[in-house]
Amino acid sequence: MKNNYLANVENYIDDKTIIDINSQKFQRVMFLYRAALKEIELKINTIQEEMKLFSNYDPIEYIKVRIKRPESIIKKMRRRSLELTYENLYTNISDIAGIRIVCNFKKDVYNLLSIIENMQDFRILTKKDYLKNPKQSGYMSYHLITEVPVALSSGTIYVKVEIQIRTLGMDFWANIEHKLKYKNDEISPKQSKNLVKYAKVINNIDDNMLTISNSVENKRISKMIIEVADNNDKNINSEGMSKFNM
Ligand code: GTP
Ligand code: MG
Repeated sequence: MKNNYLANVENYIDDKTIIDINSQKFQRVMFLYRAALKEIELKINTIQEEMKLFSNYDPIEYIKVRIKRPESIIKKMRRRSLELTYENLYTNISDIAGIRIVCNFKKDVYNLLSIIENMQDFRILTKKDYLKNPKQSGYMSYHLITEVPVALSSGTIYVKVEIQIRTLGMDFWANIEHKLKYKNDEISPKQSKNLVKYAKVINNIDDNMLTISNSVENKRISKMIIEVADNNDKNINSEGMSKFNM
């Protein structure tokens, strides 16, 4: 069992052979990333369903998962001047499996973050808060690199998955900016500057939406408190009346 390639994560991380994307070994590696992505997707879906069914709080708007194409993996490794080994792939490329969670408000991003942090069997390797520290491009999102356990017939292996958490506004900006610009030089400095400006405008809108949401929520809570107090008063009064009538 110990020699089984899949079971032995050390073999996987230390594998210095050159990647052949048509080989069975590479297919096995991609299988692992797909399996890890399924694990995390299921966990997030369960949380979404639980929140929808049993609480007033339904923060997740949608979830997107994707596996990086083999050609894009190789391209990224070449761009980073990495020798094309499995060891380099595992150690240096953290976004082969990726899940994006899109929420309504900034507070949802942090609430989901703490839910993920509390998941027992996940390992969190890195956290990047591009909400507090936006990228120079204007990009905002919360990024986590995690390791997700995948139970195989021969044992459990931890596989890296990148999690991105962002608001609808941030997602809107990032999708369009990605199409226009990311890893592409054809955009002018002025257009780039405008994109940064629009990211800030969207950030302002996000903040204003949050303010509205908080105020609506506070009103809802105050109304609830008043209703409970009213009901208590009625109960006390009717108890008092019935005692009086006796
Ligand atoms: P990559 O090598 O591009 O994966 O970036 P990285 O390893 O430095 O990690 P980082 O956390 O900066 O970015 C990871 C991912 O975030 C990218 O693959 C994109 O999906 C997204 N991202 C980062 N910066 C930008 C940006 O300026 N614009 C857009 N649209 N997406 C970005
Ligand atoms: Mg990436």
